Amino acid sequence: MRNGKISAGPLASGRVTAALMLIGGAAICCAGSGVRAEESPDASAQLHARTIAVTVCGTCHGADGNSTQPKFPRLAGQNAKYLEAQLKAFRSQSRGDPDAISYMWGMAAELDDETIAALAAYYAAQKPEAGPRAAQAHTTRGREIYEKGIPAEGVPACSSCHGADAHGTQDFPRLASQHEQYILKQLGSFQSNMRNVAIMHGVALNLKSPEMQSVASFLQSQP
Ligand code: HEC
Ligand code: HEC
Repeated sequence: MRNGKISAGPLASGRVTAALMLIGGAAICCAGSGVRAEESPDASAQLHARTIAVTVCGTCHGADGNSTQPKFPRLAGQNAKYLEAQLKAFRSQSRGDPDAISYMWGMAAELDDETIAALAAYYAAQKPEAGPRAAQAHTTRGREIYEKGIPAEGVPACSSCHGADAHGTQDFPRLASQHEQYILKQLGSFQSNMRNVAIMHGVALNLKSPEMQSVASFLQSQP
């Protein structure tokens, strides 16, 4: 059993520190004391996760996961299996671009598997709000890239994995209504391998920055 302390880690922001203190108060690590949940989270784990989501994670991601600040990804309606995998990747420090390191490594460090599963279920069940509309020119080119890829540059159609409606599946994340700025930054991190995922590295490798911009604008404006 973990001991309830949150290690601050390489944290840069005062907001993070404040949020960590909140976590300390909410005894984030010790829910369901001793019960190892192999399957779906029980009612007390769900309640605990909801409290953390609203009081701690909500500072950045919004209480219901519809964050308003473009730096903080929207989590509402995201697929639970993907969310779970990302939280574990932050905890094991394998998802490591600079923002992941400074914001999320400390946040995930003391989350146990049961709490991670319950947080993932909480966000997956929230209703995603549509993002702000982007400029029409971008959106049109972005839709084309999303649906058809760029065959001449070896870029595959995004829809083949993320789905025709960009809602994803359990294995591929939802991209619809995600913040344009966040999507752009992730594409850059996949390209440079700072976020080291072979599939998306291959996809992003030959994308030029105006193309990334177009596809990100398109995705933000999708419901
Ligand atoms: C101080 C702000 C802050 C707080 C508090 C915070 N996060 Fe984050 N979170 C971020 C940032 C910034 C990113 C994007 C990191 C990156 O760019 O790679 C992120 C990314 C994520 C992602 C990845 C989303 C995706 O689409 O891949 C998940 C999941 C997540 N956070 C869950 C949580 C949970 C659960 C909590 C509460 C325990 C939490 N966050 C608290 C700032 C925060
Ligand atoms: C062959 C399947 C595949 C294709 C094609 C694909 N993706 Fe992905 N994408 C993935 C997988 C798998 C992940 C999750 C990576 C991880 O586990 O961290 C992902 C993650 C992402 C993310 C990060 C989401 C988040 O919340 O952090 C973005 C952004 C993204 N893809 C955009 C695109 C775009 C844009 C295209 C088309 C140009 C595309 N993808 C094509 C498989 C694919």
